[in-house]
Amino acid sequence: MPARPETLADVSAPNCSGQTALVTGSTNGIGRAAALALGRLGADVIVHGRDAEAGESVVDALEATGADARFVQADFADPDAVRHLAAATREWTGGLDLLINNAGGLFREGRLVGPGVEQTFHVNHLAPYLLTAELLDHLRDGARVVTTASEAHRGASFDLSRIQDAEGLSGMGAYSLSKLANVLFAAELARRLDAAGRAVVSHSVHPGFVPGSKFGRFLPGLLASLFQWIGVVPGTSSVADGAAEILTVALSDEAGADSGRYYSGQQPVSPAPDARDPDAARRLWRRSADLLGIDEPLPAADDARRRPS
Ligand SMILES: NC(=O)c1ccc[n+]([C@@H]2O[C@H](COP(=O)([O-])OP(=O)(O)OC[C@H]3O[C@@H](n4cnc5c(N)ncnc54)[C@H](OP(=O)(O)O)[C@@H]3O)[C@@H](O)[C@H]2O)c1
Repeated sequence: MPARPETLADVSAPNCSGQTALVTGSTNGIGRAAALALGRLGADVIVHGRDAEAGESVVDALEATGADARFVQADFADPDAVRHLAAATREWTGGLDLLINNAGGLFREGRLVGPGVEQTFHVNHLAPYLLTAELLDHLRDGARVVTTASEAHRGASFDLSRIQDAEGLSGMGAYSLSKLANVLFAAELARRLDAAGRAVVSHSVHPGFVPGSKFGRFLPGLLASLFQWIGVVPGTSSVADGAAEILTVALSDEAGADSGRYYSGQQPVSPAPDARDPDAARRLWRRSADLLGIDEPLPAADDARRRPS
């Protein structure tokens, strides 16, 4: 039997019973494997994605392990669907211990969605930003927010000028920018949570190059076949390896002792220079709130420090 993610992450010991996890993008791929592992470790899990049949089969598999599980369908191209997921999570749980922002893909259409934002940026960054904002006061003390980013973030520079005008923006260019946003978001969230005195940890993680997931469906025909074929080449990661990367950040003592890091290979590593720029992170945070028409979810770290106690 292939190794399980919790074994690969060396976190099989933690008992997650009594804990609740929301894993976005858990109908397929890496998120599905992470959700099933969390269920085996004792957590109750909210499963999310667009594919209802796949979602219900993950719920069945979780319930077979004794976990309480529910599926919520929500297309992250639609901000109202994100709000629906947050509302359902509030309704069904007394609080969250793990928010795994994992749903994502590479959408080549270059179409504008929601508040007129390029689809990949919306699904991969703006939706988890909004979901996290909606659930901030639902996160329990000691909770962790894990955002699935990618090494692809290194291919982007921090330039938001095209996110509302996708003309000429390549699918890969949009994807890389959205993944840079993931790393900046996780670090800024950590700073703001800390400044607000919240005992909640936030990290981003690269799950590895995982051709065995369904990610290849987002690529053009020939590349999609190549992506599947690459799965047989040594050096790429399995879906279980990818889930293990997430579990390391979600459950290991090391990741719980720190916040705002970018993980790859089950350890914190330095992201690209643009992803380490706190000014860019703060601008991204503000622009995201503006795009969604909401107040900034938490005060900026400096603003929080200036407030009278
Ligand atoms: N595979 C890799 O090599 C790799 C490398 C680096 C980072 N990543 C990241 O890892 C994460 C998981 O990807 P994966 O490889 O596991 O791919 P996957 O098998 O295609 O799974 C993607 C998950 O995200 C969900 N999703 C996609 N678009 C969505 C939308 N518009 N609204 C709601 N949910 C949506 C999918 O739900 P439905 O199927 O129900 O639509 C699915 O559950 C992504 O954030 C990806 O960017 C992957």
